[in-house]
Amino acid sequence: MSRIVYVNGEFLPEEDAKISIFDRGFLFADGVYEVSTVLQGKLVDNEAHLVRLQRSLNELSMTAPCSMKEIEEIQHELLKRNDIKAGSLYLQITRGSEGDRSFLFPKNAKPSLIMFTQARGAHSEETAEKGISVITQPDIRWQRRDIKTVGLLPASMAKQAAIDAGVDDAWMVEDGYVTEGSSNNAHIITKDGVLVTRPLSNKILHGITRKAVLALADEAGLKVEERLFTPQEASEAAEAFITSASTFVTPVVAIDGAPVGDGVPGKHAKRLRELYVEFAIKSLS
Ligand code: PDD
Repeated sequence: MSRIVYVNGEFLPEEDAKISIFDRGFLFADGVYEVSTVLQGKLVDNEAHLVRLQRSLNELSMTAPCSMKEIEEIQHELLKRNDIKAGSLYLQITRGSEGDRSFLFPKNAKPSLIMFTQARGAHSEETAEKGISVITQPDIRWQRRDIKTVGLLPASMAKQAAIDAGVDDAWMVEDGYVTEGSSNNAHIITKDGVLVTRPLSNKILHGITRKAVLALADEAGLKVEERLFTPQEASEAAEAFITSASTFVTPVVAIDGAPVGDGVPGKHAKRLRELYVEFAIKSLS
């Protein structure tokens, strides 16, 4: 069955949705996006996603075509029209176009807003129970990774390299230190119970799930240290895991072919996932 998607003011069957070939999202990756998880027909921690969306827009001097309140109303209408109970909602704002290709920001373009739902449940319990294996890849992305732009080719290449290598995902490495996963934040837990995660900067996306999970660490009996860590330290850690809207907390059981800890999901990541799921349900809107 065809989905109903949202494009610039209209709810349409996906095959009828159209965007200009001159749209700067298409020609320059001049656009930002958010992915919110859907549970029980509602959105997880959505307010935080909309705050980050506004920040991404501000950093690029881009305006939204409508208010964040209206965006939220469109999100809910789209969930209703697709009768989706679990999955995700993707939303993207691009700078639009003035009907030709030009490097300069257009003065009179109306930004584009599109949204669609995805029924797949990437945050699957099954994956979390098994854990994932990652390889490391050089981080070849630009220096404003804190802005959630649609310029995702390096991330896509890293993930493809992982699949081609027979594993699940890639952790990116710059100057010898792990930055983040291809589409998630990367964390380790030391043998003495410290959750180590890279501090926020322009080098990583400021993950909404990361923030929620760090706030839950104390309840899981973990201290938090925001500092850089190397792939070697990760391999020697007790546990490793990723966080994102679509994976929640998912254990990493091998890095570059070497097992992390016992090579199976550890108790801390399991506890953090349980706590996060409780939080996610409370945050539904
Ligand atoms: N990715 N780092 C990167 C590079 C990401 O692309 C994402 C999210 C995250 C985690 O952020 P959050 O917890 O706010 O989802 C970290 C989304 C899910 C995606 O592109 O599909």
